[in-house]
Amino acid sequence: MNNQDSSEENRGQWGSKLGFIMAAAGSAVGLGNIWRFPYVTGENGGAAFVLVYLACVFFIGVPLLYVELSLGRASGRNPVGAFKKTGGGLPFILTGVLCLMACFFVLTYYGVIAGWTISYAWSEVTQSSLVFSEYTSNTASVLPVFAVFIALTIWIVSAGVEKGIEKWSKILMPLLFVMMVVIIVRSLTLDGAEKGLKYYLSPDFSKINGKVVLMALGQAFFSLSVGWGLMITYGSYMPKSQNIVTNGLWVASADTLVAILAGFMVFPAVFAFGMDPGAGPGLTFVTLPKVFAQMPAGWVFGTIFFCLLSVAALTSSISMLEVPVSYFVDKKSSARKKSAIIVGIVAFLIGIPSAMSKGGSEFFSNLEFFGKTGFLDIMDQVFGTLALIFISLMLSIYVGWVWKPASAIKEIEEGCPWFSKPLVGGIAPSQVWAFFIKYICPIVISLVLLNALGIFSEKESEPAEPTPEEQTSPEDNASSESQ
Ligand code: PFF
Repeated sequence: MNNQDSSEENRGQWGSKLGFIMAAAGSAVGLGNIWRFPYVTGENGGAAFVLVYLACVFFIGVPLLYVELSLGRASGRNPVGAFKKTGGGLPFILTGVLCLMACFFVLTYYGVIAGWTISYAWSEVTQSSLVFSEYTSNTASVLPVFAVFIALTIWIVSAGVEKGIEKWSKILMPLLFVMMVVIIVRSLTLDGAEKGLKYYLSPDFSKINGKVVLMALGQAFFSLSVGWGLMITYGSYMPKSQNIVTNGLWVASADTLVAILAGFMVFPAVFAFGMDPGAGPGLTFVTLPKVFAQMPAGWVFGTIFFCLLSVAALTSSISMLEVPVSYFVDKKSSARKKSAIIVGIVAFLIGIPSAMSKGGSEFFSNLEFFGKTGFLDIMDQVFGTLALIFISLMLSIYVGWVWKPASAIKEIEEGCPWFSKPLVGGIAPSQVWAFFIKYICPIVISLVLLNALGIFSEKESEPAEPTPEEQTSPEDNASSESQ
């Protein structure tokens, strides 16, 4: 293990530059890229949405990624400790607590959805097609795979930063990439694939409106794992010699590449089979198995696809569990294994109502709160949507106005000396970044937050940060299944 920062040696540290990039990209790449990105793109006009999404990633997401990584590395702490150690007052320390809560509570339902991907992989292997709504309402089928998924997550996290997360990410990420390329080749060689390519690649700019921009920004936050305090934690394991700027860019690029590739996997196939790209959240779980079923040796492609989705979800759930665990490790360095097990088991228990909220239990399925119906949707609205956007806003205010960009720039310069050197037109990258953090990010994020609260929406539905669980609505399934 690299012990460059001896004071932090008990917390663990990334053993190599690649280790950090793999783990952070593994966190970022998840259900959000492979399942959610294609359907949100399909609902928001195809190619034009993709362009807006790219702008959101690189103009808002990446500056915030640097905020989290520099705060994490400067403090060498988990999100709560990071605010405390850098002089943040109570509102910011509470923001740190909200980070731990967001990661923990999102894990409770992300694991449920990830469990479904395991069942779907198995159903492809056994060539026994699952009817989505029937499957999700059968608690006896859903709970065991959820448990398996959480157990895998606990196992990897308890092994520690280098032995666990880093080692597994190095194996899982390339595997994921290879699997995607195989499916893309198949998808692109289907008859009629060009229609899908056209939809995905030639933008119709008239489709861009306020809602599309806000949906794109929401998708960028969700997908990059920005605004969860996660990158604070991962930054805290980063040696000073590593370059936050280029590492962050690698992570954002890898995340974006996987999302874009997911589109190449989905759209040609959807169009080749005459299906609706705007079918909504059911796209992955309902539509694609039908697509696979119509391919020669389709079950092979189906199995690869759902294994891929499980792998991507696992590298994300690892990071979600890591955030609360790092909090306990900071309190007592020997506590990693015990806290991974305890936090993981509690996440499983709290996730049971989510697992039962898609028909398994009438009570949990019909619960209403925050304009959402069903326990899983409510958890997502509160923790996966509102909390996340709020944390992003607080982070940009904190670094822009309290801790000050100069402190972050000093941290970023270690390992990236050119950050504050004038490059183009006498302007240094650090100056541009500081402007974004002080002004652009807080303003844009405030707009997203207001949208999520329903201020701009004509119809009160559509949160800025839709979610893994929306796919589970029985109506969606019914309609998608009948396509
Ligand atoms: N970025 C992940 C995805 O796209 O699925 C979701 C995520 C994982 C968010 C881990 C936050 C996190 F800590």
